[in-house]
Amino acid sequence: MPLFALSVQTVFGEGSIVELGQRAKAAGLKHALVVTDAGVRAAGIIDTVLASLDEAEIAHTVYENVTPNPTLPEVDGGVTAMADSGADFVVAVGGGSPIDAAKGVAITAAMGGNAKDYVFGVGSNPFPNQMKPLFAIPTTCGTGSEISFAAVLTDPDTHYKHLMLNCTPNVAILDPNLVAKMPAPITAATGMDALTHAIEAYVNPGNTPFTRMFATRAIQQIFQHLRTAVNGPDRPTALKHMLYAADIAGQSMAAGLGQVHGLSHVVSGRLGTPHGVANAILLSQVLDYHKEFLAEPLAEIAPLMGINAYGMPAGQIGTAVVAAVRSLRSDINVPSKLSDVGMKESDVAQFVDDAQKSQAVFIAAPRQGTPEMLADIYRSAL
Ligand SMILES: [Fe+2]
Repeated sequence: MPLFALSVQTVFGEGSIVELGQRAKAAGLKHALVVTDAGVRAAGIIDTVLASLDEAEIAHTVYENVTPNPTLPEVDGGVTAMADSGADFVVAVGGGSPIDAAKGVAITAAMGGNAKDYVFGVGSNPFPNQMKPLFAIPTTCGTGSEISFAAVLTDPDTHYKHLMLNCTPNVAILDPNLVAKMPAPITAATGMDALTHAIEAYVNPGNTPFTRMFATRAIQQIFQHLRTAVNGPDRPTALKHMLYAADIAGQSMAAGLGQVHGLSHVVSGRLGTPHGVANAILLSQVLDYHKEFLAEPLAEIAPLMGINAYGMPAGQIGTAVVAAVRSLRSDINVPSKLSDVGMKESDVAQFVDDAQKSQAVFIAAPRQGTPEMLADIYRSAL
């Protein structure tokens, strides 16, 4: 039977970053490997994190060699940095990329060998959460990686995005002050990623009443606050709502994701497209393709998007949901076509092949994806 567990200690509130050092000290930890990226470092956010560690007299080493679609060699570099520095725990600071890379470091450093030894379908991590202690501190409002059990890591030789499982962080610290200055395009893209998590989880055959609870609240929050978080007069308040929404959308991912992620991972792996942008483009197209099959769940979530479905013929509600997703995407200036991010008709066959080889776990939802189906969805988004 499906298992739903809330296993991450989550701290939420302005200024909560001060608890990082305190909690690490209370756990007897001595030296943090802080995994981040150059953008987070440049934004100055890392200084706040290091100050919390300094306050508690916890030593730290910063590893910032993480790119937007983190790779297995970048994880291996972090493992080496951890060994060289003598760090005994990992602190992830950033969007999904540093957090996913940090998950790979926490597992590989504990288990030995290379990151590739532990990706789904190649090797496996036989002991759930047999990993170095991991604190995750999101600086975007989208990925939900701070509470999820999986990481996505790219093999630069094959461009495949691999999953690494059983790497749930121990502690997540959600401090709205750390997202207050997030640039609008990142707010928009990561917010659409969170929306994709909640909708894919809601319509996934693996959903449960628990995952639906988190998904519905997340969808409602995102439609209520994402436009303001990107463009509005009171961005800080809206961003606080989005930080919460992204986290609970992440909780709903226990249901599983689907073809949006299966297809978008290939786009990001091949073209370097930001994860949230690729999802935003494909979300409307996957829903449009399956809207008759998904009539019942789409009718359930339509009111959460502000759709007045009262008296609307059942067959039109799915169309209205697709329109609401497109309208939100347009209002926050996210690209609407895969051709906008460099994909061509001649790429379709290769991308379908990649999707089927590397993402079988996603391609099965909301129903089994045939090569023809996946090609149709890609073409509809060009
Ligand atoms: Fe995602």
